[in-house]
Amino acid sequence: MNETISNILKRVGTTAYQPKQIKDDELDLIIRAGKAAPNAFNAQNWHFSVIQDREILEAIDRKTFQALDEIGDIDEDERDYRPLYDAPALIILSAAEESQFSKQDCSCANQNMAVAAKSLNIGSRYLDVPNMAFEGEQGKRLRQRCRIPDGYEVICSLSLGYPADQDEKPSPRRDDVVSYVR
Ligand SMILES: Cc1cc2nc3c(=O)[nH]c(=O)nc-3n(C[C@H](O)[C@H](O)[C@H](O)COP(=O)(O)O)c2cc1C
Repeated sequence: MNETISNILKRVGTTAYQPKQIKDDELDLIIRAGKAAPNAFNAQNWHFSVIQDREILEAIDRKTFQALDEIGDIDEDERDYRPLYDAPALIILSAAEESQFSKQDCSCANQNMAVAAKSLNIGSRYLDVPNMAFEGEQGKRLRQRCRIPDGYEVICSLSLGYPADQDEKPSPRRDDVVSYVR
């Protein structure tokens, strides 16, 4: 099996990270991989906000938790849930509000980055819930702190960091989801 396929098959949504920051040259490669993703009309109406400031990461984590708690999505046994899983880095993908295919574009970029990260032994997880931290009036200040451009909406994020468990195993996949018409 070639290395690309192997990295795709080994990728895991990491939920525990080492506190150590990832290296800048690795981060650059991950972002290059994200920007290389397919996107509708090659309009590239996306923005990558790379957050490595601990205070801002904590603010995103806290606001996300509060937003989930407010809508009753946090059970009593989930009070220690950390939506960013204490990852030392987060890439927030936002896209121009008028962009028709922003979800698809940003998802493609996110997955390219996840696989690139895996190839560098860096863990990652596709995250949707942190979007809540940027919603409404309350999220405005955080949007500014994260340099989300005006007129852009947050689509998804990717947490990044060296995994605490170096031996993470991918979760099993269903066998009954493929049809062949030959
Ligand atoms: C659209 C989408 C949204 C997701 N949102 C979250 C999220 O908010 N929080 C989280 O912990 N994982 C999130 N995930 C990760 C999935 O839970 C994870 O990919 C799935 O359980 C399969 O596990 P794997 O990534 O280890 O293969 C999301 C994944 C996708 C594709």
